[in-house]
Amino acid sequence: MKTLVIGTGGREHALVRSLAQDPGVDEVHAAPGNPGMAALATLHDVDPMDGAQVADLAERVGAGLVVVGPEAPLVAGVADAVAARGIPVFGPSAAAAHLEGSKAFAKEVMEAARVPTARALVCEDDEEVERALVELGPPYVVKDDGLAAGKGVVVTEDHAEALAHARTCGRVVIEEYLDGPEVSLFAITDGTTVYPLQPAQDFKRIGDGETGPNTGGMGAYTPLPWAPADLVAETLATVLQPTVDEMRRRGTPFAGLLYAGLALTSRGLRVVEFNARFGDPETQPLLALLASPLSPLLLGAATGTLAEVAFPRWRPGAAVAVVMASAGYPESSSVGDVITGLDAAEALDGVHVIQAGTAQRGDDLVTAGGRVLAVVGTGASVEAARDAAYAGVAHVQFPGAQHRTDIAAGIT
Ligand code: AMP
Ligand code: GLY
Repeated sequence: MKTLVIGTGGREHALVRSLAQDPGVDEVHAAPGNPGMAALATLHDVDPMDGAQVADLAERVGAGLVVVGPEAPLVAGVADAVAARGIPVFGPSAAAAHLEGSKAFAKEVMEAARVPTARALVCEDDEEVERALVELGPPYVVKDDGLAAGKGVVVTEDHAEALAHARTCGRVVIEEYLDGPEVSLFAITDGTTVYPLQPAQDFKRIGDGETGPNTGGMGAYTPLPWAPADLVAETLATVLQPTVDEMRRRGTPFAGLLYAGLALTSRGLRVVEFNARFGDPETQPLLALLASPLSPLLLGAATGTLAEVAFPRWRPGAAVAVVMASAGYPESSSVGDVITGLDAAEALDGVHVIQAGTAQRGDDLVTAGGRVLAVVGTGASVEAARDAAYAGVAHVQFPGAQHRTDIAAGIT
């Protein structure tokens, strides 16, 4: 089978890497891709937001499966455009991707499906925001209703900061604060059958010890040795299956990757957010441990036949991804800084590098975005995987490089 992956980031590089190793896949194409994918896939210069262009490309290369990585094209209906040509596509329709595209809509679905989540008030103006802040109290959780690349959320004790953030948002969602550790639990679904993946955890803030502003994610690891043994079963029963069933009931079945961002609070499990696609960077360590071939799972989800595909199997051990970001991230990013040391990092046992914001400039690999790359380490335990990842990070250099030093630290 020929496959086409849409996107430019680390998630898509990780998907391409898994598909390239898949015995059922004989060609991998990517659009627009990045230099890291170039060694594994044929790259095509196509606008990922343009459904007609993506569908044309899928026909031209004879793709038997198109995988749409990021949320923006999904919300824009790129999966619909591909499906309309009769080509199997992994990724929800625009109507189903609304689960990520609008936090207010996600709350409505969760309420209908009785999925446990934070209480939330949707506000249209300053006055409503003021009232909601008083009603829910500090710490304040203020979210832009729409897509904001992980940066639309402010959690603060400071009333003025909460109000100021609300003013920068379109429609605002003010939420009850959820305490407790966060878990990213992904499920592959065809709209009926739901296969949860292994839980992962990501590190959202720029600074060590979860300090500083939120980012797209600065690192991740899997599995979670500390998580309750029944976490996946409970999430399947109380969150994933009811949500998938509710979306089908509404006539907008959700097929693709349902990402449940969970908080394990003192009062039980709660959904923090849904996303309609693989998480970045959680996908990097997850796919490093997936023992099953990826393409049958994605194709089963795309064609409504997931129940006929074997449940995903995992390699023993753990994987850790450490993101390296360019100078200025997350407020800005720095382009054109020369990156060195990837070969030395990848020469280490159990280490590979997944590229994201990179570009080729002549013979040089240079930075081209905020999150530049992730060094992924695997090992027999989280600690061993973490040691491998950081040994890799030590070889990779570019001016202004930033990374957290505490990804998966102290996890046993
Ligand atoms: P989201 O974009 O909804 O995932 O929010 C980004 C991050 O903000 C989450 O990963 C949490 O760390 C934090 N956050 C979001 N909602 C809440 C909440 N209700 N209580 C506490 N923290 C939250
Ligand atoms: N790692 C968070 C996300 O992908 O949204």
